[in-house]
Amino acid sequence: MCGIVGYIGPRQAYPILIKGLHRLEYRGYDSAGCALISDTDNHLNIYKAKGKVSDLERSATGKDISGSVGIAHTRWATHGEPSEVNAHPHLGRSGYITLVHNGIIENYATLRAQLIKKGFSFKSETDTEVLVQLIEYTQQKLNCGLGNAVRNALRLVIGAYAIAAIDSRRPHELVCARKSSPLAIGVVDDNSEFFIGSDAAPIAEYTDRIIYLKDEEVAVITRDAPIKVYDLKGHEAEKEIQHVSLDLAMLDHEGFPHFMLKEIFDQPKVLTDCMRGRIVESPYGHQPAVALSAVTRHRRELLRAKRIVIVSCGTSWHAGLIGKQLIEHFCRIPVEVAYASEFRYSEPVIEHDDVVIAISQSGETADTLAALRTAKDHGALVYGIVNGVGSSIAREADTGTYIHVGPEIGVASTKAFTGQVTVLAMLALALGIAKGTVSQEEYETTLRELSAIPAKIERVLLQNDKIRLLAENFTYAHNFLYLGRGCNYPVALEGALKLKEISYIHAEGYPAAEMKHGPIALVDREMPVVFVATNHDALYQKTISNMQEIISRHGRIIAIVTEGDEQVKAMVHKTIEVPDTISALTPLLTVIPLQLLAYHIAVAKGLDVDQPRNLAKSVTVE
Ligand code: AGP
Ligand code: GLU
Repeated sequence: MCGIVGYIGPRQAYPILIKGLHRLEYRGYDSAGCALISDTDNHLNIYKAKGKVSDLERSATGKDISGSVGIAHTRWATHGEPSEVNAHPHLGRSGYITLVHNGIIENYATLRAQLIKKGFSFKSETDTEVLVQLIEYTQQKLNCGLGNAVRNALRLVIGAYAIAAIDSRRPHELVCARKSSPLAIGVVDDNSEFFIGSDAAPIAEYTDRIIYLKDEEVAVITRDAPIKVYDLKGHEAEKEIQHVSLDLAMLDHEGFPHFMLKEIFDQPKVLTDCMRGRIVESPYGHQPAVALSAVTRHRRELLRAKRIVIVSCGTSWHAGLIGKQLIEHFCRIPVEVAYASEFRYSEPVIEHDDVVIAISQSGETADTLAALRTAKDHGALVYGIVNGVGSSIAREADTGTYIHVGPEIGVASTKAFTGQVTVLAMLALALGIAKGTVSQEEYETTLRELSAIPAKIERVLLQNDKIRLLAENFTYAHNFLYLGRGCNYPVALEGALKLKEISYIHAEGYPAAEMKHGPIALVDREMPVVFVATNHDALYQKTISNMQEIISRHGRIIAIVTEGDEQVKAMVHKTIEVPDTISALTPLLTVIPLQLLAYHIAVAKGLDVDQPRNLAKSVTVE
């Protein structure tokens, strides 16, 4: 949550900071601010606004925005309501030191009380202001530079932080640090320019050379000099520069009204990218085979696993539920799927020969990262399925597979979900064939089907206009029920989450048969019920019986069905067809109309689809 940007170099910082904030706005968007050390008199100018980055730009219009060093922030409030006074940057009492922060200072109340006793006062309700005053106090007490003040102050802090700080008495310097919240530093070849970002998105167009700080590291960045990085005790750390490239076109929604729609339409292409070089022709003939380097490298540990535990949150947790079905079907290994936030505090029973799969689009979700660390502490092999290249989860997992679907900006996850399911399918097949738990025939058929999925998604996308018209009839609804069985049950959960997130309509996903045990009480003439009811397995007829139960109570059914299905069409209000595929891969097709349905309902209600209220893309607080 929240985006941090910083710059020091020969250029004017303000345009770089603002562009960077726009790139990070998906991370938080309740207020924004920036601080610049003026070129003319080294005065510290701070501008803040409640609302979006465009509100900040308006409030800075006509003011002194000069300066070649600066920091900026787009906030997702944890402590204190979204308001101008709570917006970052926060200022130390002497008026020289200012700071932006992503995370939560857990012991802020104690620190605040101690600082008040020493004569400090506070303007905002944030935990962040406590941190800047603590740095201020440390700086005065030790009579030291900003780097040392930050380092010593952070030794007293409990919690999560990524920070960037400047001191207008030291315009040649920018200091940043992190623990549990993400931070990347872009370094131009000759050390003439440095860019700070919560991720690589605001940095990518200037350099691909990135340094990632480890937890409890502080970087002191001085103009025209190599970066110095220290741990909190002051020992200098060697840092490696990584080369991270981002497809900048992915950071724009050109041609589409919203990132979410663009990302839904990206799916055929990015799933092809996800499978490229991984589904290959076998060296012995023209049969397809799956090649995942992580599986080759960790074959022994993966094959001996008696149990797999998947940890993740939100949409990634739904992908995990599908992963469970895929792995249990192809590999016959029992799989548990845990909410990362529950797992980490649950005294989990993890043996050293268990495998823990951490699934995360961002690779920065605080709970998933903590669950990964718990699993590692228990000696399990941790396998990351991540989109964010170079993210914390990608770096800390023992091994893993990137989903390679490109940056996902819309807060509602779409292409990352199908990318995660695609990787889970490839992983299940790679393990299954190595263990001998899947026949060669089923392995090849499934791989051929998986390769055909992008073209089949294209066919679903052709129904976009039809789904839009359908969606416009449902803006009145206050509740929706999503029902599915077997492989379509996690899809029902995902469809309901998509609708809730962006249209603010209450929606519940349920196993279709379980609906009789409670939710059916909600059904009346007003209640839209979405069934995911593809016809390739034994559960189809059972699902039809569940539909009858809804019809008898006058619910309005929208059914996602297999192409050519006449039986359901004759029974229900509306159907949306998806091409046929094998049962295990069905979610990759049935989820697409549900993404479009949620999108069009939200648009028809006039809502901000890409930046829905109260949410942030990357949840880096627990
Ligand atoms: C999905 O639409 C949500 N915005 C959210 O549930 C998300 O999937 C969850 O926060 C997990 O994020 P991650 O995949 O980046 O770890
Ligand atoms: N805890 C800080 C605040 O509420 C930072 C939140 C964030 O990460 O945006 O201002």
